[in-house]
Parts: sequence; C-alpha cells; structure tokens
Amino acid sequence: MSNVFTSSIGKKLIMSITGAFLVLFLLFHMSMNVVAIISPSGYDAICAFLGSNWYALIGTLVLAGGFFLHILFALILTLYNRKARGNNGYATSVTPKTVSWASQNMFVLGLIVVLGVLLHLLQFWYNMQFAEIMGQEPKLVGIPEVSTTSGSTFIAYYFSNIIFVVGYLVWFAALWLHISHGFWSILQTTGFNNEIWISRLKIAAKIFASIIFLGFAAVVITFYLKSLCSGCC
Ligand code: HEM
Repeated sequence: MSNVFTSSIGKKLIMSITGAFLVLFLLFHMSMNVVAIISPSGYDAICAFLGSNWYALIGTLVLAGGFFLHILFALILTLYNRKARGNNGYATSVTPKTVSWASQNMFVLGLIVVLGVLLHLLQFWYNMQFAEIMGQEPKLVGIPEVSTTSGSTFIAYYFSNIIFVVGYLVWFAALWLHISHGFWSILQTTGFNNEIWISRLKIAAKIFASIIFLGFAAVVITFYLKSLCSGCC
C-alpha cells in the first residue's frame, strides 16, 4: 500500500516541506550574519545568546533532522528515478528547452551544498557551539585566544583567506541554483499549474534566492576587503 513515505509524490512532498523549512533557516541565518558587517560586537552578542542553551540545542537538533530527511529523500528519489529509467539515462537524447540546467543537476548541486555545509560546520559550529558544550577551547592558528561565542573573530579569520572566500562564493552560487529550482519544484509537487503565476513565482524565487546569496556574499566580501585594509587604513 502506498503512503506518504513510499509514493513518489509523498517523497517529493517531504522534500518540499523540509526544503521550505531549510530555506527559512537560511533567511534567518543570513539576516543574523549581516549584523557582523554593521556591528561585530552585536554579532558576538547574538552568537552568545544562541550559544549552547537548551533552546539553541533543540533548534540545532530540529535543523539537523530537517537536513537529514531532505538529504535522505533526495537520495531515495534519485535512486528510484535512476532505477525507473534503467541504464539508458533519459529516454530521449534531446533535452527539452523547459528542463533547466539546475533541474537536471539538482542532485549534483545538492552534493556541492552538502560538502560546503560539512566544511562550514567544521570551521564554525564545531569550534563554537560544539566546543562550548564540550567545554573545549577553540583553536585558530595565529590567534592566541578566541572565545567560543566570538563569531566575528571566526568570520574575520576565515574570510581573510582568498581560498575560503572563493570556495564560499562557489558554495553560495550552488545554493542559489538549488533554491531557485527547488522553489519551482515545490510548485510542481503541489500541483500548482497556472502558467502566468508559475512564471511570476519563478521570478519571485530567483529574487528570493538572490537576496539570500547577496546577504551571505556581502559578509564574505566585506571581511575579505577589511582584511586587505587592516594595517593600511
Ligand atoms: C557568510 C556566510 C556564513 C557565515 C558567516 C556563517 C556563520 C556561522 C556561524 C558563526 C555559525 C555558528 C553559530 C554557533 O554555533 O553559535 C554557523 C552555524 C551554522 N551554519 Fe552558517 N554561516 C554562513 C553561511 C551558511 C550557509 C550558506 C549555510 C547553509 C547552507 C549555513 C549553515 C549553518 C548551520 C547548519 C549551522 C549550525 C547551526 C546550529 O548550530 O544550529 N551557514 N554559521
């Protein structure tokens, strides 16, 4: 018997709900990070507030659950689609114009996003919330003492390195494509098929993904430029 976990539409629905939840997290996370540009000490106060208290820990666990379900069902759907198509890939060698590059590469884009998240968690979350829970001192090469709640010090440290700057910008670009296609995908899954509104909502999705991209990118670029300037101005 088919249910929400086994039917194809049910799996897509779970992907849509968890995807929408993750996008809301990104909107919050981006808004919070932008504060680092305006006031590094204000940003550190937010990091301290979100530290390792029970609410923050429950939030982290719910977020991890959302990520886990989204990735698990992406894997199941990809394997299911591959199996359905056999070894022939797509039945047609001519790709219809309406099938965007992002839609065909949703899984690869998702993989770049996941690898980026893992590196990001290792650089930030592991040295901050996790270190605080474990009662450990974070270590940044060349910086004698750094607090687990000094998010602005971590940002300044990593984004003074051009390799991380470029790596993060590539990661954000993959995220832009992933979100803007994912939004369209939600509309398809929910059976929304009004042509005029679909094209309007597609534009709205691109604007929304761009706001998230620009917010995150602004933090990385501002701190890189600040690092070039330190000592000269
Ligand atoms: C300029 C870009 C970004 C900066 C400066 C930044 C900064 C941070 C910082 C400081 C933390 C640690 C907070 C703490 O543990 O107290 C953190 C955690 C985290 N970041 Fe980011 N982040 C950025 C982009 C992103 C993006 C694009 C994603 C996802 C695609 C992301 C996902 C996460 C997640 C999942 C956590 C763990 C959250 C938790 O503990 O509840 N971050 N980030």
